[in-house]
Amino acid sequence: MPFQSVLRYKGGMDASLEIPGIARLATGPGGLPRYEITTPLAQAHVYLHGAHVSHFAPTGQRPVLFMSAQSWFQGGRPIRGGVPVIFPWFGPRQESPAHGFARTRAWTVESLRQEPDGNVVLVLRLESDAETRALWGEPHDWVLRHRITVGTALGMELEIENRGAAPFRCEEALHTYFSVSEVGAIQVRGLENAEYYDKADGMRRKCQDSGPIRFTAETDRTYVNTAAACAIDDPGWRRRILVEKADSDSTVVWNPWIAKAQIMPDFGDDEWPGMVCVETGNVADNTLEIAPGGKHTTRTRVRCEALQ
Ligand code: BG6
Repeated sequence: MPFQSVLRYKGGMDASLEIPGIARLATGPGGLPRYEITTPLAQAHVYLHGAHVSHFAPTGQRPVLFMSAQSWFQGGRPIRGGVPVIFPWFGPRQESPAHGFARTRAWTVESLRQEPDGNVVLVLRLESDAETRALWGEPHDWVLRHRITVGTALGMELEIENRGAAPFRCEEALHTYFSVSEVGAIQVRGLENAEYYDKADGMRRKCQDSGPIRFTAETDRTYVNTAAACAIDDPGWRRRILVEKADSDSTVVWNPWIAKAQIMPDFGDDEWPGMVCVETGNVADNTLEIAPGGKHTTRTRVRCEALQ
């Protein structure tokens, strides 16, 4: 019998926000609180710091997400791996933190429940305050809700609500790091003929050819105007990871390769072959404009199938 429960946010780390035997609030590395979710369908870890999913594995399968062994686990610093939530800008920005501030702030729990099909749905929430207004340099009022569904697939929905009186423009992404057997042996399909900015080549605008993406050097591409699902074919692990999405027109594909891995302090020099980022979002040409009282939700669903 599936256990069903809806628990409302009360603030802080509250043991009543748990589902006995299914979802518990534990203390992760660095003392950061995280949900540890275990159901007959899957296992997942989600930090309140950044609303960060750091682990997802369908039962009996290897982890789907990459996590760096060198990651920081500290308030104010991003976690390296898993799924950083990027908002309200993508990439560097003058004196402000790269990729915005959502990934380094403490989110709160809005609700937690298990559905009749066995999926666990955790909703985390972040609201604007004086500090976010100062970091942004703009006076916007907003609420973010990150709805994470743990089942045989990992669902993530990032909702942005404008609570202010003026429209605002923002970028956002679910910066998903996938674990792969060997990045040089995989291919990413779904972005054929799409246009992209090549960050590894002075942000030149280019067009993907009609073949899959293969990795032979640093790859840092922001694909725009594409709503397509992607597939990561990994022959080494005979696994295909499917990344489906809705209300997202950008996909970022990233692997730092050798030199960049060496200069990232929170990433091992030899970790780059084991990961690839395929990020669902709305960035660059697809920057969002959210009207007063308006909402936007980006949805993605990650699932695996056997690669024959
Ligand atoms: C990717 C960007 O999405 O994130 C890269 O396209 C960047 O340019 C990478 O290096 C990691 O960013 P960060 O801020 O987490 O080191």
